[in-house]
Amino acid sequence: MYSRTDLQNGLRTQVFGKNLVIYDSIDSTNSCAKILAASGTPEGSIVIAENQTEGRGRLGRRWISEPGTCLLFSLVIRPTLEINKVGLLPFFVAAAVAIAIEKATGMQCECKWPNDVLLNGKKCCGILLESTFQHNLLEYAVIGIGININQASFDGDLEETATSLKLAAHKSFDRYEIFRSIVESLEHLYGDIKAGDFKKTLSEWNSRATIFDKQVELSQSGERIYGRAIALSADGGLILETSDGKRIFYAGDVTIIKNNNNATIETG
Ligand code: BTN
Repeated sequence: MYSRTDLQNGLRTQVFGKNLVIYDSIDSTNSCAKILAASGTPEGSIVIAENQTEGRGRLGRRWISEPGTCLLFSLVIRPTLEINKVGLLPFFVAAAVAIAIEKATGMQCECKWPNDVLLNGKKCCGILLESTFQHNLLEYAVIGIGININQASFDGDLEETATSLKLAAHKSFDRYEIFRSIVESLEHLYGDIKAGDFKKTLSEWNSRATIFDKQVELSQSGERIYGRAIALSADGGLILETSDGKRIFYAGDVTIIKNNNNATIETG
């Protein structure tokens, strides 16, 4: 079970993490944070657990972690954002996580559209953002973050595509330190986000993105689309130059194609 003192002592934030709900095991920290958010829990509240029995990922997938080795938590935010800016929130989270991991480990992270953070080309962090609206404005968002810190191995297909900080750096990390570092980094970038200004976030994210100007495959509900990744659209979509012209996508999984005949595909 996490120690509240170790999570909160030395946490240099004003708001984020001040209200902290700790579980040993829970179905999903996102599901719990959504219930708390709907009943008015203050901005900055965090739900953290050692283990999730029904951890959820993007596109209806499951998120499975080895209990006691990873960081699994969800943060509630309440910025007054218009619907067209909400699609930019994952970039804020991914950039903040990447900055914190880099500071804590000295390793360089990569940001992969839409909201993965990679080390050495493999995913070490997944982000699940769930938003609730009142008319055209965001009422609250729950930001779920899963980071593989000291997990030593991954099963099946994940072995090819997933990593942990420990596997990447060949040493273990203090989960409390990484937690504090990420929460501080999130609060630091959040000042601008609250004011609707995503410039710094997007510049941090773009500087760690590796897909632009490359041929990519985007898979979306069983369909595969090929094109050159050009840029993010103003609302967070991915602009691809395809054989049908420029198209914008808002969901899916992207892989870089190493050569033009699609023979070898990078995974991550
Ligand atoms: C992804 O598919 O990449 C997103 C994974 C997000 C997992 C985190 S773990 C903490 C929080 N609670 C959940 O049920 N999911 C998110």
